[in-house]
Amino acid sequence: MEKLRVMSVFGTRPEAIKMAPLVLELKKYEEIEPICCVTAQHRQMLDSVMEVFGLQADCDLNIMAPRQTLSSITCKCLTGMDDVIEEKKPDLILVHGDTSTTFAGALSAFYHQIPVGHVEAGLRTYDRYSPFPEEMNRKMVGAIAELHFCPTENNRKNLARENITEGVFVTGNTVIDALKTTVREDYHFATEVLNTLPYKSKKVILVTCHRRENYGEPMKNIMLALRQIAETHEDVELVYPVHLSPVVREAVQEYLAGAPRVHLIDPLPADEMHNLMGRCYMVLTDSGGLQEEAPALGKPVLVLRRETERPEAVAAGTVKIAGVDRDVIVSMASELIESNNAYEAMAHAVNPYGDGQACRRIAEAILWRFNRRAQRPEDYQSR
Ligand code: UD1
Ligand code: UDP
Repeated sequence: MEKLRVMSVFGTRPEAIKMAPLVLELKKYEEIEPICCVTAQHRQMLDSVMEVFGLQADCDLNIMAPRQTLSSITCKCLTGMDDVIEEKKPDLILVHGDTSTTFAGALSAFYHQIPVGHVEAGLRTYDRYSPFPEEMNRKMVGAIAELHFCPTENNRKNLARENITEGVFVTGNTVIDALKTTVREDYHFATEVLNTLPYKSKKVILVTCHRRENYGEPMKNIMLALRQIAETHEDVELVYPVHLSPVVREAVQEYLAGAPRVHLIDPLPADEMHNLMGRCYMVLTDSGGLQEEAPALGKPVLVLRRETERPEAVAAGTVKIAGVDRDVIVSMASELIESNNAYEAMAHAVNPYGDGQACRRIAEAILWRFNRRAQRPEDYQSR
């Protein structure tokens, strides 16, 4: 029997971190020929992930441009994918999540009448402009995909509300599979400043912020809140690996640079980031991925957004929505810094997003869909 040609398409840092363990898993099956296609919507941040996980791309669209627009990413991906699909003739295309690469990858597969598997399917805020443009990207890919790999039961229910009930699997999130390979007790940081931070004697707070819907006023409020938190608490150190987006870097430079006890550093390789998260006191972020990783590592998270498509850890009590109002962010962060009770109430390890077996379930679901397995994989059940 011919091997199944399964092409994974991804382009940004978070997609790469969450697809890497799946690409590695697919290599284990003799029935599958994995093909790795990167759009390089992100260049440096993608390459860093490829290196950490030891991945090599079979095709590289190399589309990134400084200050790229949503339309330019989508158009370049679509055009580039035509040639790649013609050449590689995949039987299935896997896309991940909600980026412009995800949408264009799925649309391109559809134009070539190739089935799409959507990894991390079914997350919703039901606000089309937040996260923007990700909410709509994810929805549109849901309409195109034939296989939907939902991290949680809640995500499956979201798809059912849109009458998507065929080809739906609850697998857990592949990010938990990735975390299991990167986090180690005895980890030694290559980024020297991370070895010297006072994890025991002070409260080291990990910060990230990059989302498009936060550009402008919300990002200014967030930066000023971070500055105030650092200025008013001598027992904290803020570590902020700043995204390479020029819009983000300009806001950080204008409102946060020079604040006491604030370490502004370049983006970290994924293994460094995960181990820093494991050692920090808490996390302030607008990132999607950090909202999934930090709870698994027992770290409280304040979300610097008005909503989240990841309500499971909020329900579990380790994540709270802080919003984008300066005073509210300062007050919620201060409570967690000053009150041991408030901190302990949030700081417990929970794994609503997976058990580290998501990639195996996805691989088995693919084999089942193509009649190479008699059994559907069991669904992931959150504890
Ligand atoms: C994208 C995703 C977002 C995801 C984020 C992860 C879309 C619409 N948005 O947003 O969902 O949360 O990635 O980080 O797909 N840049 C570099 N080098 C890099 C990466 C980015 O220089 O390695 C700069 C470039 O100037 C680029 C800009 O950052 O134009 C913005 O990148 P882009 O992918 O358009 O948007 P993100 O905000 O990163
Ligand atoms: N991350 C990283 N280095 C950094 C910042 C984030 O490796 O400097 C990782 C983080 O641990 C998570 C992913 O990147 O796995 C999240 O990506 P990002 O915040 O860019 O995007 P989002 O998850 O919001 O889409």
